Amino acid sequence: MTSPAPTPQELLKIAIEVARNAAETAHRMRAEGVSVAATKSTVTDVVTAADRAVERQVLDALAALRPDDSVLGEEYGGDAAGGPGSGVRWIVDPIDGTVNYLYGLPHSAVSLAAEVDGTVVAGVVRNISTGDEWTATAGGGAWRGGERLRCSTETDLGQALVATGFGYDPRRRAHQARVVVDLIPHVRDIRRLGAAAIDLCYAAEGRVDAYYEKGLAAWDLAAGGLVAREAGLRVDGLRGVPAGPDMVVAAPPALFEPLHARLADLDASGGP
Ligand code: IPD
Repeated sequence: MTSPAPTPQELLKIAIEVARNAAETAHRMRAEGVSVAATKSTVTDVVTAADRAVERQVLDALAALRPDDSVLGEEYGGDAAGGPGSGVRWIVDPIDGTVNYLYGLPHSAVSLAAEVDGTVVAGVVRNISTGDEWTATAGGGAWRGGERLRCSTETDLGQALVATGFGYDPRRRAHQARVVVDLIPHVRDIRRLGAAAIDLCYAAEGRVDAYYEKGLAAWDLAAGGLVAREAGLRVDGLRGVPAGPDMVVAAPPALFEPLHARLADLDASGGP
């Protein structure tokens, strides 16, 4: 007999417990001192021992609590734990904002989401330095510290504070920088905070009006994307493509079209 699918609330409860413990480990390891353990796609794309230890802790915790689920993680990929049996897949970024973490800047987070049959239904993003914690369930809203989150009501792109980020490949960065050069005269200002999951959560609570970035991986987007959607943002790609590696635009409905139009004109999803 197969067990009934867990509810988003049940999955969120597990996600919160696992993410809190993971963030505590990351916080402790940062206090003990941290250095680069390896590089990935380029010399600036770093991994610390904490990225690996925290992901291993998350994998072990999920394997104990939900042994039949599968897990996709930034450091150990898709085969790291669990089985294909339950229809639930966890998506984990053990430390989003690794460069901030390395330098001691207070914008890094554990990001953990649960998908059921390919749809993200629960997610938590926990800031490793401050303990700020954003959560969401599909249809159940986005929350921080007991308060329901609502995105910005800004309607004028010229007044919008827009967050973005840059990839690690220098050729991609050059393209992304050209897009910013042409976008910045048309918005209030640009912010580059260094952790995509936190950018999405900031957009969810109106600390920035909108966010866009080319090149996000599933673990950068899963939990923060749900928090943003549940706070009322439209989260999509360009020209009808769903949000994904080519482009993520997260904007309040009234800002989405003008921001999308600018980004499409600038071919923001193009380039390397
Ligand atoms: C990175 C951060 C950064 C974003 C990059 C991501 P990582 O994730 O989220 O803000 O601009 O695209 O790769 O490497 O720190 O987990």
